[in-house]
Amino acid sequence: MSAGSGMRALRGPAATLVDNPFEQPSRACLVTHEDALVVIEDGIIRAFGPYAELKDAVPAGAEVHHYPDHLLVPGFIDAHVHFPQLQMIGAYGAQLLEWLDTYTFPAEMSFADAGHAARVARLFLRELLRAGTTTAMVYCTVHPHSVDAFFAESERFNTRMIAGKVLMDRNAPAALLDTAQRGYDESVALIERWHGRGRQLYCVTPRFAPTSTEAQLDAAGALLKTRDGLFLQTHLCENPGEVAWVRELFPARASYLDVYAHAGLVGPRSMFGHAVHMHEGDFCTCHQSGAGLAHCPTSNLFLGSGLFRLFDAVDPRRPVRVGLGTDVGGGTSLSQLQSLNEAYKVAALTGHKLDAVQGFYLATLGGARALGLEGTLGRLAPGHEADICVLDPQATPLMAFRAGYCASIEELLFMLMTLGDDRAVRATYAAGACVYDRARPGDPFLPASS
Ligand code: GUN
Ligand code: ZN
Repeated sequence: MSAGSGMRALRGPAATLVDNPFEQPSRACLVTHEDALVVIEDGIIRAFGPYAELKDAVPAGAEVHHYPDHLLVPGFIDAHVHFPQLQMIGAYGAQLLEWLDTYTFPAEMSFADAGHAARVARLFLRELLRAGTTTAMVYCTVHPHSVDAFFAESERFNTRMIAGKVLMDRNAPAALLDTAQRGYDESVALIERWHGRGRQLYCVTPRFAPTSTEAQLDAAGALLKTRDGLFLQTHLCENPGEVAWVRELFPARASYLDVYAHAGLVGPRSMFGHAVHMHEGDFCTCHQSGAGLAHCPTSNLFLGSGLFRLFDAVDPRRPVRVGLGTDVGGGTSLSQLQSLNEAYKVAALTGHKLDAVQGFYLATLGGARALGLEGTLGRLAPGHEADICVLDPQATPLMAFRAGYCASIEELLFMLMTLGDDRAVRATYAAGACVYDRARPGDPFLPASS
């Protein structure tokens, strides 16, 4: 029997999104219970509701993990992150293109060593769980073994992860280049090995238009047709210098997004990182195709890339699906609470208010919808995978003091999204198994298999 199977339950205050607060009043989109029960069987949520109503649904003898004074929420979803960039997170002084040359590419070159890739994958997975993140869409490096290292670690914790080998056949150091054919062949082998194995899902990953020839982008489009349910991730309209470079490299294309559309890369399982410098026509293309955008506020601020126009993107007249990305190492934290802290400020600077319900939507159900995984992830609801984050609103003396002045769960959520970070995560569950518990004596991490 795997660690995720058997019946068990989590009890405590709980909050989950049920609808889109960018389209409905926030109050109508959040379901909360002061004392909830989440009943889990074989890694799936079977029932969710008030403890008083559900307590008889749990058979005598089943484990009930009780978290009074905490808050159960769906595990966070990180729609855009680079695991090989942990070693240069917070690197000083450059904007995107110089930052890639100075810090990023040298860091990724060190992943030629498979042992290094395995060590960083191990740390990265644990850091995600410490941040309460249970699903991420992850860039590996150009080296196929970096993908093996990442998925092997994810498989150990039975987390649902989406990842792929970076494709680059120009404008990067020779040691990081593949070719259109080699990138295709290596990706096919990785897809065969990992896509749909347990909870792992493969993502075709051309880094961004400047580092791929048209032949390689076409090969990425062909890769997407090799299996059902494959994802696509890349970067889009992040920085003005980058956008100008793409215009020079692809003069025949109508826009940066059109470069990807031309190669067949824009569809309902495509996720474009950043999208800071978008035209109205680009948003329309995303809306029509069902493509998602990853809002990466800590990165866009840290690299000076610009302010993502979230409220334009989600305009109900032609809504685009948006998830929240940390974009580590351009981003400065793996905590989605910290992403929300910065997302609130970016919204404020663009003339909007991001309320707590909207914020938690982006980090949970909205992320699941943007990734095409609605119904599977992102909600505390029957039939959903039991990926759960147990938040501790009293994690620090200041938070405990501030929490005493919160009159509602919405206020508490807002306090968590401004003051919270990994310290506010008490425990993390993946497919019903407690894979991280800050309070567990010895090692707080417990892989589902070792
Ligand atoms: N554009 C191309 N590669 C990258 C990357 O690694 N990080 C960010 N933030 N933008 C990119
Ligand atoms: Zn990125």
